[in-house]
Amino acid sequence: MVTLSHLTPYFKDKKVLLTGHTGFKGSWMMQVLARMGAKICGYSLAPENATDLFYQIDGENMCVQNLYEDIRDAKRLKQTVISFEPDFIFHLAAQPLVIDSYTNPLYTFEVNAQGTANLLDAMKQLEKKCICVCITTDKVYENPETGIPFVENDKLGGHDPYSASKAAAEIIINSYRQSFFDPTKFATHQKALASVRAGNVIGGGDYASNRIIPDIVRSITSDTKLTLRNPNATRPWQHVIEPIGAYLLLASKMWEAPVKYATAYNFGPETNDVLTVQALVEKAIEVFGNGSFDIQQDPNQKHEAQNLMLNIEKAKHDLQWAPKYNALQSITKTIEWYKDDRNGDMKCLEHIQAYFEDKINDAND
Ligand SMILES: NC(=O)c1ccc[n+]([C@@H]2O[C@H](COP(=O)([O-])OP(=O)(O)OC[C@H]3O[C@@H](n4cnc5c(N)ncnc54)[C@H](O)[C@@H]3O)[C@@H](O)[C@H]2O)c1
Repeated sequence: MVTLSHLTPYFKDKKVLLTGHTGFKGSWMMQVLARMGAKICGYSLAPENATDLFYQIDGENMCVQNLYEDIRDAKRLKQTVISFEPDFIFHLAAQPLVIDSYTNPLYTFEVNAQGTANLLDAMKQLEKKCICVCITTDKVYENPETGIPFVENDKLGGHDPYSASKAAAEIIINSYRQSFFDPTKFATHQKALASVRAGNVIGGGDYASNRIIPDIVRSITSDTKLTLRNPNATRPWQHVIEPIGAYLLLASKMWEAPVKYATAYNFGPETNDVLTVQALVEKAIEVFGNGSFDIQQDPNQKHEAQNLMLNIEKAKHDLQWAPKYNALQSITKTIEWYKDDRNGDMKCLEHIQAYFEDKINDAND
């Protein structure tokens, strides 16, 4: 179950290495881990802006070690893993943007693919039990645009460099699992390795460029019209707390039964809970109470997948995991976060408490 009372015994006083801790998802994850009493070593680049969520939550003080280092620095990463001796590793550090991957493909491959290899190679040196969950993405699948939700053993692929770099990370993860962390030989190496493929994450505190929620918030704040280039694209929208709860649940299960759960999992919304980009924007504007958009489809724009859906039956069956919020609730909670934040009342902890203590208001909001 994804509740703090269920998860805390697995993470209290445990050493958790969190790469990507200064980012959007990492900052939410740190708050949940800190609330459970985990000892966090964060390994990431420094936050880019003084307004980043990491600073808002005083992220530095949630870590026993707060390292601003590059995942491409294999030597420094190895030193960190060996000296910190983590019980758990959550690998979130990445260049996570499709558009930026067209501008900087080599950097994207180095960070996302080689960076993952650097981490797993460092883990090989550990002489203790360690559970590792590597965060990839819903975009790792070859996408023939059939609209059929992807299952975990579908063919990997990737048109744009970001998707390809994450698919490459998946191949690297599988290679390390088969070659060095074979689940059937857990007793000898004591490592369990899983990969997780979550959907498009929305939630408060995301300020990235070229992501729909931050773009909406920026357009409303600056009183300008938002331009949609791909209004009919569908994505598996999820509130940020959903995949974080799922990663923690999976890691707790791996702690108990490393052989059984050392595999790949999709985490996303129900397949009948799919919204287009335009529907998401309309709902966000409704909740905000103002804002407007227009549609400008550029025939020369870079390729982005039209339909993306994840089949989550494996997670439901193996982990008894299911999303707690539907898409409309996720959007509402996200926009409410930004509204509260604008009023100087940032409410991450209230959101975490509501989700993890099962105080979920399931009014169809
Ligand atoms: N946000 C989403 O919708 C979404 C969806 C699916 C998967 N993901 C994956 O989740 C993870 C976190 O994404 P996010 O949305 O929080 O992104 P983000 O950009 O907010 O955070 C990225 C993090 O990675 C770190 N990082 C980047 N390059 C690094 C490098 N060279 N060395 C060390 N650290 C580096 C950054 O410092 C930051 O802490 C990524 O792996 C991303 O691919 C995100």
